[in-house]
Amino acid sequence: MSFDLVIKDGTLVTATSTYQADIGIEGESIAAVGQNLAGDEEVDAAGKLVIPGAVDIHVHMQMPIGDFISADDFFTGTKAAALGGTTSIVDFVEPGAQQNMVDALNERRALADARVVIDYGLHMTIGPQEIAKLDQVPAAYDAGCGSFKLYMAYGLRLEDGQLLRAFEAIREVNGLPVVHAENWDVISTLMARNLAAGNISPHWHPRSRPALFEGEAVSRVVKLASYAGTRAHIFHVTCDDAVQEIADARRRGLPISGETCPQYLLLTQDVYDAPGVEGALPVCSPPIRSQEEQDALWRALGDGSLQVVTTDHCPFSSSEKRTGLHDFSKIPGGVPSVESRLAAIYTFGVRRGRLTANQWVAACCTTPAELAGFARKGKILAGYDADLVIFDPEKGITLSTQTLHENVDWTPYDQIELRGWPETTISRGKIIVEEGEFRGQAGQGRFVARRFA
Ligand code: URP
Ligand code: ZN
Ligand code: ZN
Repeated sequence: MSFDLVIKDGTLVTATSTYQADIGIEGESIAAVGQNLAGDEEVDAAGKLVIPGAVDIHVHMQMPIGDFISADDFFTGTKAAALGGTTSIVDFVEPGAQQNMVDALNERRALADARVVIDYGLHMTIGPQEIAKLDQVPAAYDAGCGSFKLYMAYGLRLEDGQLLRAFEAIREVNGLPVVHAENWDVISTLMARNLAAGNISPHWHPRSRPALFEGEAVSRVVKLASYAGTRAHIFHVTCDDAVQEIADARRRGLPISGETCPQYLLLTQDVYDAPGVEGALPVCSPPIRSQEEQDALWRALGDGSLQVVTTDHCPFSSSEKRTGLHDFSKIPGGVPSVESRLAAIYTFGVRRGRLTANQWVAACCTTPAELAGFARKGKILAGYDADLVIFDPEKGITLSTQTLHENVDWTPYDQIELRGWPETTISRGKIIVEEGEFRGQAGQGRFVARRFA
C-alpha cells in the first residue's frame, strides 16, 4: 500500500519511548507507524527526531488588555507557532458584560477562523460578571470550550466564594478550570506602598508580587478545588512555593496539575534592572524570579511535580511597554515565546541533562494535549491527527527579532543560542513548514471542540 505521505527513517520520540520507524499518513490522519512504508510523497527524516506537533495551551493572540491589544493576531501568532513546531494552541474568550458565553465564543471564533494556520481551542473566561451567568457553562462546554479560565488577579479576579461557585459549575460539566493564581490583595497593597515611596521602576515589579503569596494562592486553589470536587490546572507557575503546593496535592491524589513557561526557565529577575525600556519589556505576571526559583522549576519538570510547559505568549510592542516606564504597575504584562518554546526547552532542558527527550515531548506535546482535551493530538499513533514535527537536533539558531517571526519588535531571548530547531511542521497531513520555510495559509487551521470523557 502507498500512503499519501510517509516520513521515512526518523527517530520517533514520544512521551514514553524512542525508536526508529516510518510514519504513514492518509489524508489528515496518521494511518500507520512501522518499517519500510512507502508513500506517494516521502520526506527523509534520517538523523532527525520526529515528534508529535507541539501543543501550547496558554496563548493570548490579539487580546485586548486595557488600552492595548497583544501584538500577534491569529495569523502572525499561529504562523510563528508553526515555524517553532507548534501545531495546536488554546487561546481565550472574554465575554462582554451583557454577552452570552456562546455568543462571545462565536465572536472570538469569527476573528480566529479565517486567520489561523494551525488548529486551536478556546478557554472560556469566567470573570466577576460571569458569576451571574454560570448557568451558561453547560452550553459553553457543549460548544467546545472544555476549559474555563479563572483569574485571582487584575480586574477579572474572582473572590474566593466566586471561585468556589465557578469550580462547582465547571465540575458539573466535567470541564477543566485553569487558574491564574496570585494574591491580589497583597499585590495591590505592595504596589501602592512601593509607588508611594517613589519605587516606580520595573525593579519593583517582582518585589510587589512575592513568591510566598503565589504559593498561598495556589494552596487556596487546591483547597477550593478539592472542596468543590473538581480538578484544576495552575497556569504559569514561577516558584518553588507554588510547585510544593501542587506536588503535595498530587501526592494526596488530588487532580491538580501545573505548567511553567520559557521566560521563567531561561531568565532571572535581574532582567527588570536593565536601563530604560529594556527593564520594562519582560514585565509579565507572575514575575520572572531568582535563579533559585528557576532551578526549582527545572527540578519540578524533571521529577514530575510540574507537568507542562506553555508560553503565556502575550507580546506588547516596546512603545506600549514604555508607557509604564514611570509606573511599573501600568506596564502591559506579557512576553513573546510562542515560536521558541519547543526548541528552547530542548536546548536548556534536554541538552543540559535536566529532562530526557521523552520528558520534553511529554511536557510540550503529549500532556498538554491530554490535559486540555485534544482527543486526537499529542501522540504518534494510528488514528491521531497527522500533526508532526521533524526536529533537527543539531541545527543552531541565535534567537533575535531577525530570526523569529513573532509580530513584535523585541524578544526576551535576544542573542540566546539554541542547538536544535524544527525543520518541518505538518498539520493534519499538510506540510506547513518545510526546511524552515513557511508554506501554510491563513484559515487552514480549525477550531477544535474539546470535551472530556
Ligand atoms: O503578564 C501576563 N502574564 N500577561 C498575560 C495575561 C496573563 O496573566 O496570563
Ligand atoms: Zn495569567
Ligand atoms: Zn496568560
